Parts: sequence; C-alpha cells; structure tokens
Amino acid sequence: MEKIELDKICVRFKDHTVLKDFSLKIPSGQIIGIVGPSGCGKTTIARSICGFINPESGSIKIDGKLMCSRQSHVNIPPEERKIGVVFQDYAVWPHLSVYDNIAYPLKKRKAPKDQINDQVQFAMEQVNLKGYDKYMPSQLSGGQQQRVAIARALTSSGDLLIMDEPITNLDAKLREQLLVEIRLMQQRLGTTIIYITHDQEAAMQLCDRIAILNPDGSIAQIGTDEEIIKNPASRFVFRFIGVSNFLPVILKDGKVVLENDQSIVIEPIVPDSWPAGQDQADLGIRPMDIVIDSSSSIRASVTQSVFLGNMYNYFISLGGLDIRVQRITGQDNETECKEGQNIGVKLLQKRYFKREEKA
Ligand SMILES: Nc1ncnc2c1ncn2[C@@H]1O[C@H](COP(=O)(O)OP(=O)(O)OP(=O)(O)O)[C@@H](O)[C@H]1O
Ligand SMILES: [Mg+2]
Repeated sequence: MEKIELDKICVRFKDHTVLKDFSLKIPSGQIIGIVGPSGCGKTTIARSICGFINPESGSIKIDGKLMCSRQSHVNIPPEERKIGVVFQDYAVWPHLSVYDNIAYPLKKRKAPKDQINDQVQFAMEQVNLKGYDKYMPSQLSGGQQQRVAIARALTSSGDLLIMDEPITNLDAKLREQLLVEIRLMQQRLGTTIIYITHDQEAAMQLCDRIAILNPDGSIAQIGTDEEIIKNPASRFVFRFIGVSNFLPVILKDGKVVLENDQSIVIEPIVPDSWPAGQDQADLGIRPMDIVIDSSSSIRASVTQSVFLGNMYNYFISLGGLDIRVQRITGQDNETECKEGQNIGVKLLQKRYFKREEKA
C-alpha cells in the first residue's frame, strides 16, 4: 500500500520552475530518504506534501486519499493531513516545557486530557526523554531539543513523519546516535518517514530506499543504498555518492585510451559497459578501486602521499590528470609509495559515463 503518492506535481515560484512533473510513490512503513544538492527542491517537496504549498498541477494522495489537486479543486489544509513534521529551523517553543511542547499538537486538536498524557509519555519514551517533562528547552542540549521536536511530531502523527534536515546542526557523534534512535523508533512503531537531507551518508545509514534528486529537481535514481552504490544511474549519482575520479577517455583503434595521453591504454577492447554510440566517455573510478601494481602498463607518478594510520591517501598524476587513490594499510602487502615515485596502477570497477552528463 502506498502511503504517499505524488503524481506529476509542478511547483513554480514566479518564472522559476522548481518541480516539474515530479512523481514519487512512498510505500507504507518505510523510511525513504530524499537526497540532493542544495536548492534542488527537497524542502519544496516536503512543504507540498504538508500542504504549505499547493502545486499548480498534479496531485498528492496520502493513504489513497486526495490531498490536493487544482484540477479537482481539492486542497486539504495542513492540520487535516495528519503529518508530523520536524524541520531544521522549526525549533521547539522556548517558553513551553518539554511536556507542553510535545502536548501542543494534541491540545490544539482538543484531545481528552488523559489521552494527551498517555501520548506525551509514550512519545517521550520513544525519543529517550522520559522524566524530562518539566525541563525548559533552555535547559536542554541541542540533541535533546531535537528529540523534543521529534516527539512533538510523533504526537501529531504516529504513522507519517516528514523530517527535513532534522539533525544537521548537531555534532557528528550526536547525529550518529540520533540516526540510530530514529531507526529504532521507526521499527518499533512502523511509522512511514520521509527523511530529507543533503547528507547522503546519513541517508544511506538510515533509509530503506533513497531518492536522489538532480540539481533540477528531477529524480536521478531511486533504490536501496546497495543498488545506488553498485549501479549508479548516472555520472551525477556516482559523483554525489562518495569520492570519485573522472578520466576523460576516447575510443582509438578499438581500444579505450586516455584522452590526454593516448599512449595510455585503459582497455584493449571496448567493454560492454561503454555508452552506446559514443566515441568518447568519462571513466569514473573510486579511490579504493585503484590498485598499485608494478606489473601494470598503466604508469603514473605519485605527487602526494599522506599516511592516515589505517590507510594511505595518494594523489597520482596519470597522463597529466590528478587522481586520488586510497589503499588500506596492510592490504595486498601494500607498502608506502614515495612522492615522485613512478608506479603502475590497475583500475578495478571502472564505470563509463556519457560525456555530456556533466553536473
Ligand atoms: N517561497 C519561495 N519563493 C521563491 N523561491 C523559492 C521559495 N521557496 C523555495 N524557492 C526556491 O526554490 C528552489 C528550491 O528550494 P528548496 O528550499 O526546496 O531547496 P532544498 O533542496 O530544500 O535546498 P537546501 O538543501 O538548501 O535546503 C530554490 O532555488 C529556492 O530559492
Ligand atoms: Mg531544504
């Protein structure tokens, strides 16, 4: 069952089209990450689902029920959409205690008093804030304040939460901890969560599936973290997820050679993954997938070598291109290469992308 269905929504601010025929189906009981660069339209998607923006065309359904469609003259107000929201800048109210902050959505809905108490206690338990009822936000750490915001979202809706960069302002360790807590809470409650962030690592850690958006707001790829890492749909996705090197390559005499230095043969035959109909491409490769191997005919020189305790981080010059290489200490009898040294490299896990896809 789809929890949310966005069907070809268009959102425009004056002459700036942010979302064009944007469609996305979000199944019940999953955490879906929406990830993309700043300004691509993530918050606009969240605000449209919540009802703060009414898309000029297309429709949004929640639990199969139409929430908005100009064509059908439907636009359900935000408070009737039953969505719990945690926005980065949607802070807790400083003048209300933890209890009153979390109880607020229920009081607004005029829920019975004993029901309010039960739900607030339940929500506080879910975010590890038990016993903090009387604390004021000023007496809480940043992480605890975010927990209050999450608990408040939970009392708005136990089954659909939208979190838009909820933990971006926290330090790394706390972020990690909250991600684990959000995951555990979601598993306990079966909540559907839309988790919006530009932090692809957090999304990978937390989400069942991730939608990666292009800078123009269209979907570049939807999949599990594994699918996205193993099979990036485009050059943009490959670059967005982790550190990457790109080498311009061309076809010459049936071989793949480096464009800058055509004497460097990358592949003796054209690989199956070569983009059809192209005579040039960009070879994408991760720093971990470059192996130093003295027997290789692909020669490079080491321009910088940094020892990081458990790995070597190299910059090498390959046909005049600066390439990053990462080798784990102790792997394959790896010994340190010195700056200026001439080395052979083997390129594993090569991916070829069409040239014009530059982002
Ligand atoms: N109310 C508005 N009026 C005019 N332009 C807007 C409005 N809201 C958003 N935009 C524009 O729409 C585009 C998308 O904004 P949005 O906030 O959805 O991006 P985002 O992906 O959430 O970015 P970030 O990662 O920085 O939060 C931006 O170019 C922004 O300037
Ligand atoms: Mg945003």
